[in-house]
Amino acid sequence: MHTFGHPVRIEELAALCEEWHIELVEDAAESIGSTYEGKHTGTFGKIGAISFNGNKTITTGGGGMMLFNDEALGEYAKHITTQAKVPHRWEFCHDHIGYNYRMPNINAALGCAQLENLDKYIASKRKVAQEYIEFFKNFDGIDFFVEPVNTFSNYWLSAVVLKDKEAQLEFLQQTNDNGVMTRPIWELMNRLPMFENCENDGLKNTIWFADRVVNIPSSVRVEDL
Ligand SMILES: Cc1ncc(COP(=O)(O)O)c(C=O)c1O
Repeated sequence: MHTFGHPVRIEELAALCEEWHIELVEDAAESIGSTYEGKHTGTFGKIGAISFNGNKTITTGGGGMMLFNDEALGEYAKHITTQAKVPHRWEFCHDHIGYNYRMPNINAALGCAQLENLDKYIASKRKVAQEYIEFFKNFDGIDFFVEPVNTFSNYWLSAVVLKDKEAQLEFLQQTNDNGVMTRPIWELMNRLPMFENCENDGLKNTIWFADRVVNIPSSVRVEDL
């Protein structure tokens, strides 16, 4: 998963998966336009997925896109996501359990129009991030999260890392009280009621970030388009 649009160390993960014979499925939901050493996120694993949900860099209202290197697997995904109907002039025969996950043409048209502007959207988000980098240089204890080396991030959601949970709460309080919408990281899944009894390894790093990260306004600016 390429969190907030920042490419993860995907080559290391791919090597581990190869060594242990694990299929790599890459969640690039947040990282359209982001690359790792020049290669698009979502193209390192067996399957990648990009989200076009309403909160993403481009949206079709809902839905998304799956990425495959293996053409046959791509065809199979297309088949089972479009009701697994065997093409025939009049017969309705379905050769698998299928799903009605096709993207309606009208939604796809929205996506195509936005794809043409993707570079501009990302340039705007990166400009916003650059301004945050300059701004937060003046603050001790607030680190603006930047793209890892050898990567290009779409900066889908800009983020700061505060010094501890108390500082995080203070930052959330001050900004929201003053009309600036900021948010902590999503609630950790192991804390949700339906997963609270699932096994985990203590999640030390996850909890460290959950206690410190705040997402700050990151929208594309109209004046950049
Ligand atoms: C990392 C990640 N994975 C999966 C999803 C789910 O995508 P969708 O909303 O298109 O189902 C999202 C966000 O919506 C996401 O941020």
